[in-house]
Amino acid sequence: MSYKAKFKVWRGEGGEGRLEDFTVEVNEGEVVLDIIHRLQATQAPDLAVRWNCKAGKCGSCSMEINGKPRLGCMTRMSTFDEDETITVTPMRTFPVIKDLVTDVSYNYQKAREIPSFTPPAGVRPGEYRMKQVDVERSQEFRKCIECFMCNNVCHVIRDHEENKTNFSGPRFLMRIAELDMHPYDVADRQEAAQEEHGLGYCNITKCCTEVCPEHIKITDNALIPMKERVVDRKYDPLVWLGDKIFRR
Ligand code: FES
Repeated sequence: MSYKAKFKVWRGEGGEGRLEDFTVEVNEGEVVLDIIHRLQATQAPDLAVRWNCKAGKCGSCSMEINGKPRLGCMTRMSTFDEDETITVTPMRTFPVIKDLVTDVSYNYQKAREIPSFTPPAGVRPGEYRMKQVDVERSQEFRKCIECFMCNNVCHVIRDHEENKTNFSGPRFLMRIAELDMHPYDVADRQEAAQEEHGLGYCNITKCCTEVCPEHIKITDNALIPMKERVVDRKYDPLVWLGDKIFRR
């Protein structure tokens, strides 16, 4: 069954913009991204939107739908009432390039600041032996599709542009935690997490976990364990003494 839905879509570029009203056809089984595509095809050919897989796997189509960060391709129209006005805006934490497309280069910059997996000297690929429990633990974090909705919703940077320099956001603190849990990684992730990537800014409100489309328990399984490891090290008297002696 088709019906006409009311949409308000953010249009603009260069820091200027406004919500534009549309009335558009909706068919059974469609998702919000289908409606954005119909708007492009019928009423707004220059409406900019980023997408790729339309299967919830590439992380490109992140947007805010009725104020909540969501993937456009995984948000079914059937979740809304037919007479509801649906508001679609770009992710708020990143600068708008045009319409629904934001500049997410902050995230790639933060990704580049994290040293890659660092195995011990002398152990070659093929010689790593891991317990299944360690494999499974990091498997959860590797489901991340880098939609950046966790970073988008994190209040540390959502309303505080000035924190972006010192805070890498849940996506990349999770990446550091994943590497720190890896039995073969020898890089010092704990000090870097605290000093360079702003782990201390996170006050575990779990906003990131709530919006993750892969249902990764970012706060409980990555950020809190990472905070515990950093605290253990900071307040362990033997570690403290070792740091004092060997850093002279
Ligand atoms: Fe790939 Fe939506 S288009 S996740």
